[in-house]
Amino acid sequence: MLKKLIVQVNYQGVNRIEQEILFSLISDKLIAIGCLSVSNISGDNELHQPLQHIEIIVDGKIHNSQVKKCFEPLTRITNLDELRLINSKNWVESYKDSVKPIVISNSFFIAPDWIKAPKENKELSVIRINPGMAFGTGLHPTTQMCLQLISRLPLSNKNVIDFGCGSGILGIACAKKGAKSVTFIDNDFVALGIARENIIKNSCQEVEHKITSALTKSSKKADYIFANILLNPLKNMAKTINSKVKSRGQVFLSGILIDQVESLLKSYEEHTEKKLIKIVELRMQQWACVQITYR
Ligand SMILES: C[S@@+](CC[C@H](N)C(=O)[O-])C[C@H]1O[C@@H](n2cnc3c(N)ncnc32)[C@H](O)[C@@H]1O
Repeated sequence: MLKKLIVQVNYQGVNRIEQEILFSLISDKLIAIGCLSVSNISGDNELHQPLQHIEIIVDGKIHNSQVKKCFEPLTRITNLDELRLINSKNWVESYKDSVKPIVISNSFFIAPDWIKAPKENKELSVIRINPGMAFGTGLHPTTQMCLQLISRLPLSNKNVIDFGCGSGILGIACAKKGAKSVTFIDNDFVALGIARENIIKNSCQEVEHKITSALTKSSKKADYIFANILLNPLKNMAKTINSKVKSRGQVFLSGILIDQVESLLKSYEEHTEKKLIKIVELRMQQWACVQITYR
């Protein structure tokens, strides 16, 4: 049996963009403990207020205290209502009906198992990711921008690192486009397990791959490194990422806001003797994704 929790959170002193980032981080944590869906259900009047309502659908076996813990220390819960138990069969069916496939640049068709892929379009690589497991269902703009760039890349025979792989969606997309090897890295062990399942689900196990929680000195250099994380972790990884990209390779940084691009690139410049060149900057809503190389 599933239950629906309505949580009231207090974002006092946090601006609208920071609220969205906190919501993403909290959703990640909730999904990692097994919540099936997390939505902000605040009405239009509430959207600019510090008090917001979040609806969480979760298996009845998960204790409310585990849910509460996911909000700490990011924000404060001011009320938690367990509204009603839901008949899981009906909910699952109506939920399945509400999920739509995502098509990126006429290149990738991303959908859960139960949605049929169009047979007539031979250009589309089908990526199967079931929602509600780890970050990386393809819905988020930061993931979509990376996928757009992947769709344009010559990947044949290339070595790729998917840093902060979550579900593994970016590495899987590269494997589908002919990458020679992919290293999947995430510091969350739940995400690593899900990435492993998705590699098999998407028949990419034949592509040389490694699934690990961190890069080591012995990790080989890559032609392309993707890192869709957040500003501060991306800054902290600048030295590692710069050292693991081949001399003519490229790095793709996503998960940052448009006005954070300059400060992020500065950190990367500080950790290389080469000249850093921005090839492309994509923007979607308030998010940016940059493709960089070094000369
Ligand atoms: C925003 S999700 C991106 C998931 C997927 N790559 C995508 O593009 O949709 C960021 C992922 O980075 C992981 N992560 C955050 N900090 C990390 C770090 N320092 N090292 C490795 N992974 C990290 C998180 O656990 C999370 O799975």
